[in-house]
Formats: sequence, structure tokens, C-alpha cells
Amino acid sequence: MKEIKVGIIGAGGIACSVHIPNYQKIENVHVVAVADIKPEVAEKAANRFNISNVFTDWEDLLKIDEIEAVSVCTPNAFHAEPSIAAIEANCHVLCEKPMAVNVAEAQAMTDAAKEHQKILQIGLASRFSPGSLYLKDLIDGGRLGQIYYGRAVAVRRRGIPSWGGFTRKDMSGGGTLFDIGVHSIDHVTWLMGAPKPISVFGSAVTKFGDRHDVINPDWGAWDVDNFDVDDFATGLVRFENGAMLTLETSWASNIENVGGSYILGTDGGVHVVGDTVFEQRNGKLVDTPIELPSGPGGHETEIRRFIDAIRNDLPSPVDPEEVLNVQKIMNAVYQSTETGRSVDLS
Ligand SMILES: NC(=O)c1ccc[n+]([C@@H]2O[C@H](COP(=O)([O-])OP(=O)(O)OC[C@H]3O[C@@H](n4cnc5c(N)ncnc54)[C@H](O)[C@@H]3O)[C@@H](O)[C@H]2O)c1
Repeated sequence: MKEIKVGIIGAGGIACSVHIPNYQKIENVHVVAVADIKPEVAEKAANRFNISNVFTDWEDLLKIDEIEAVSVCTPNAFHAEPSIAAIEANCHVLCEKPMAVNVAEAQAMTDAAKEHQKILQIGLASRFSPGSLYLKDLIDGGRLGQIYYGRAVAVRRRGIPSWGGFTRKDMSGGGTLFDIGVHSIDHVTWLMGAPKPISVFGSAVTKFGDRHDVINPDWGAWDVDNFDVDDFATGLVRFENGAMLTLETSWASNIENVGGSYILGTDGGVHVVGDTVFEQRNGKLVDTPIELPSGPGGHETEIRRFIDAIRNDLPSPVDPEEVLNVQKIMNAVYQSTETGRSVDLS
């Protein structure tokens, strides 16, 4: 099996918990270089995972010709530039979510991948859980009939990230919407068949993150005085095919943790990810159990699919055009917040 050499840009939490260990599980895949602007972070990752080339500047990492695949694991505001540079350096790229901080960057990333015929995969691992892959097949096979509605929910009672740049707009570009909202919006719209969004009305607000009286039991203190992103966002999206999506996401709110994304079709409905199809059969309402398969988690599978796609010359396992539409939805929510009007994406 052909050897694939991988470089890692940004050596923090997600690089060390997901990307590097999962690459290292795959036969003949070798993580050969790591870059982080903080030398101690790069060194620590290199020592822990036995990586021989260590840099503080990702441009130096991209000078290693044998590197064929790059993971971009930097804060959101630093996704586009290294991703595009890596593609231009002839590498396939797995870039963390969200794709970018604005539509122009996301478009430029998509265009670069197309122009250079490289794989650009975004780290939307929710798509790759065994249950999710099963539901995707079930929905694509027509079991739910015509899909006309999706609800994308990721609501935390308290779960404000207290590390990295999540709560600073200059690092993250956005708050809960870009952090956990992106997963649920992408997951639901992908399951709906990735319809094209044509208009968005929404609002993203700060109600907790800038307050010193708010507790954050799991993750502790964050930088309250420099918190300048949303901690709650909601929106309504209309798609070209007439389907609708509502979205709701928070890092903090006065309700229990709420998931419960679901999809409605004319022949059946499902929770995402649920083990039941709600439907009508032979004149009766029935809750049909579905047996979800087991298997590796979404993060492991996303890395395996990325490598598989490189080895077998396949398209990106996460179509960048679909993620570009998710970026358009999220930035339209921010735009709608400013104007109080719906945003036309058609
Ligand atoms: N898919 C998921 O489930 C998931 C989970 C957590 C984080 N993420 C995403 O991963 C990204 C990183 O998050 P994290 O939790 O690992 O943050 P982190 O702060 O732990 O790690 C980011 C690292 O990038 C480094 N960095 C910053 N600018 C850089 C640059 N220009 N060049 C090289 N290195 C640079 C930082 O020094 C830091 O070590 C974010 O985009 C986040 O949204 C995804």
C-alpha cells in the first residue's frame, strides 16, 4: 500500500486528540511534520507522537515535497490561508470546521481545490458516525419520501469553550454558530440532500459570555472581558426546492442541554441520529425501529475516508460545495442580525 506522508498545521486540542492519533492508526500513513506558532506546543506534539519535523511557520512545513496530505487545525480565522497554500503546494487538505470565517474565504478554498484538483475535506465528523451513515443511505433510498423540513439543534445549558480563540472574534470569526451550530446545520442539511439555500432570516446574540456572574461548571473560566462573539443563534432557512430548516444553537442558555435535530419527509421522519422511523403504514401510525450499526466513531472514519480518497483518487468525502452553502447560511445569520432583514442567497 502506497505510503502517505502527512503534515499537521496547528498542534492544539483537535490535532492531538483526533487528527494525529487517527492518522497513526492507518497502515502506511506517517505524520512527518507539525507546525504551530507556539514552539512549545509544536515540540510537545512532536515528542508525544514521535514526529520528526517541527516548525513554527506552516510555510516551512509546506516546503517538504513528500508531504501529500495536510490537516489544518488552527483557529477558524487561520483556516483559509494555510489550506489554500497547501492546495497550491500540491497537497490534499483536511481542514477543521467551520470551513472559514466568511463566504469569500470559503469560496476561495473551494475554487483552489477545484482548480488544482485536490481533495478539500472539512472536519464535519458528525456525518461519519455509523448511525449517521446508515440514516443517510436510508434517506437517499427514499424511505422518508420527499424531505420538506429539517431542524438543526445544538443547545448547551453551559458549555462555553475556555481555551484557544473560540470566544474572540479575531480568532474564531464567530461564536456558538461557528463552533457547534456548524455541526448540526451541516449534518441536517447533508441528510436532507444538501439543497441550495436561497434565503435566511436569523439572529445571533450575546447573552451570557460577557457576564462575570455566569458559571461554566465543565470548562471553567473564560476570558469574559474579551468575549465578543455570539453565544446563542437562531435562524430560518428556505431552500430552492421549497424545503425549510430552522436552526438553534447555544453555548449557554437557561434550559437543559437540548439536541433533538430531526428531519421530516412525506413518508417518514427521523431524529438525527435516531433509531426509529416515524411513519404511517396500513392505516396506522407506527414507530419502526431501525437497527443502527456499530463501528468506529465519526472522527476516526473522517480521517480514514480522507486517506481512502487520496489513495483511490476519489472525490472529497465532504463535498466543499455543500460546506460552502453551510458557510453562506451562517454568515447570512450574522448579516440578518445586523440588518433585521432576511438575506437573499439566490
Ligand atoms: N471537529 C471537531 O469536533 C472539533 C473539535 C474542536 C475543535 N475543532 C476545530 O479545530 C480548530 C482548532 O481548535 P482546537 O480546539 O484544537 O484549538 P487549540 O487552541 O487547542 O489549537 C489551535 C492551535 O493552533 C495554533 N495556531 C494558531 N494560529 C496558528 C498559525 N497561524 N499557524 C500554526 N498554528 C497556529 C495555536 O497555537 C494552537 O496550538 C478550530 O477551528 C475548531 O473549530 C473541531
